Amino acid sequence: MDGPSGSGKSSASKGVARALGLRYLDTGAMYRAMTWWMLRNGVPVEDADAVAARAQDPVLESGTDPDAPSISVDGQDVSEPIRTREVTNAVSAVSAVPAVRARLVALQREIISGGGIVVEGRDIGTVVAPDAPVKVYLTASEEVRAARRAKDLAADPGASVTVTRAEQARRDRLDSTRKASPLAKAADAHEIDSTELGLAEVIEAVVRLAKE
Ligand code: C5P
Repeated sequence: MDGPSGSGKSSASKGVARALGLRYLDTGAMYRAMTWWMLRNGVPVEDADAVAARAQDPVLESGTDPDAPSISVDGQDVSEPIRTREVTNAVSAVSAVPAVRARLVALQREIISGGGIVVEGRDIGTVVAPDAPVKVYLTASEEVRAARRAKDLAADPGASVTVTRAEQARRDRLDSTRKASPLAKAADAHEIDSTELGLAEVIEAVVRLAKE
């Protein structure tokens, strides 16, 4: 399941995994964990060469239980710190580095090779799993996506709605225009626009596709 930020991918992917008894992988969390580690280790994230030079260093582990997804770096659970505004604003730069993508795509394919899994990201249908049996591209209007992200504001009172919207637009632009595997809809993906749909309806639509 691919789509831009705030399209509802995470809730929908987890819901579909639960409904079908499958595992769940949040690839965005892996890029965030890599970014958290770079910031933590003083790597200048806008310097692609510096990021590439350290891309093999962090030890990443992803839990795939949709009821308790987890991500750890060097043995430390980073589920919370990877959601900060600092990481969110740095992640597009780190994820544009080919060495980072090569390493994380390899890890993702290893996890996916076990089968029975719902994977969410930006390049799953196009690059990571081009042979996936069901591909979904989830979208929503910019307004709805910003409103869904607004709940993140609670964790960071320093970010106004206007600033958050601007930061999200910047991240989507960077993710869609980068050279390495930009956010894209696979030719054979089913596009679902969740602007007018509730979560349960999105899950139902995807489950229906999976059972076809
Ligand atoms: O899904 P989430 O918003 O947590 O993803 C964080 C960031 O990770 C995205 O903005 C994007 O830069 C990167 N990403 C990616 N490829 C993926 C998943 C996420 O480049 N498959």
